[in-house]
Amino acid sequence: LTSQEEWKNGKRLADTDLPENMKQAVFKMKSSEMYLGNLAGCQGQLPISVKTRIGYHESQIEEVVPFLIEAGVERIALHGRTFDARYSGCADWGQIAKAKELTKGTSVQLWGSGDIKSIKQANEFIKLYGVDGILIARAAFGNPWIFKEYVPSWEERKNAMLYHAELFLKYRPDLDLRPMRKHITWYCKGIEGSAKLRDRLMKVITLDDLVNVLD
Ligand SMILES: Cc1cc2nc3c(=O)[nH]c(=O)nc-3n(C[C@H](O)[C@H](O)[C@H](O)COP(=O)(O)O)c2cc1C
Repeated sequence: LTSQEEWKNGKRLADTDLPENMKQAVFKMKSSEMYLGNLAGCQGQLPISVKTRIGYHESQIEEVVPFLIEAGVERIALHGRTFDARYSGCADWGQIAKAKELTKGTSVQLWGSGDIKSIKQANEFIKLYGVDGILIARAAFGNPWIFKEYVPSWEERKNAMLYHAELFLKYRPDLDLRPMRKHITWYCKGIEGSAKLRDRLMKVITLDDLVNVLD
């Protein structure tokens, strides 16, 4: 949203005005809602949700949430860390709960994000912090079954690794499996005695290599 000139001059997104940036982004989306909605096949009725962090340097929810409500978004998804925090420390669910409070009396949904490891924990956090929904990101790495609370067998994990690798090569025929190594090894998370296997998986280049390692 900053001008190209500003980017060229090294202006960081974090130095820009967050509410002003959001205002511009939401207004642009709102003004193209009909177009986007028709593209998505829903007759111009496209719900707009905004996913953001609680602020740049410190929490800015008190200015941002009321603005987003006024701008007419249907859902706000909030990661409970600032931009500066990157992934350090813990997500501040107190701020997420406060943001939910700010949506009370409106139809805007407030979803929380940050450090959720299971559906059980997600349900507990919904009760504890009053949010309308929860997002899970990193805990789903190598564990897409998390959303069904299903514990896969080793055979199912192997099949998932192969399928994931095949899909990657299908969509990126210009690459080999090197960028996929970390994703493949994530499927071994929590498997006792898998250190040696993970070492071998971290060396695969082709699909044949992967098949051989998993054999
Ligand atoms: C690899 C990766 C990619 C992400 N991409 C996006 C993104 O495109 N848009 C976004 O709003 N958040 C993105 N996030 C942030 C997550 O949605 C989430 O808010 C954050 O990781 C905290 O949740 P977690 O503790 O469950 O990982 C990404 C996170 C990761 C780890």
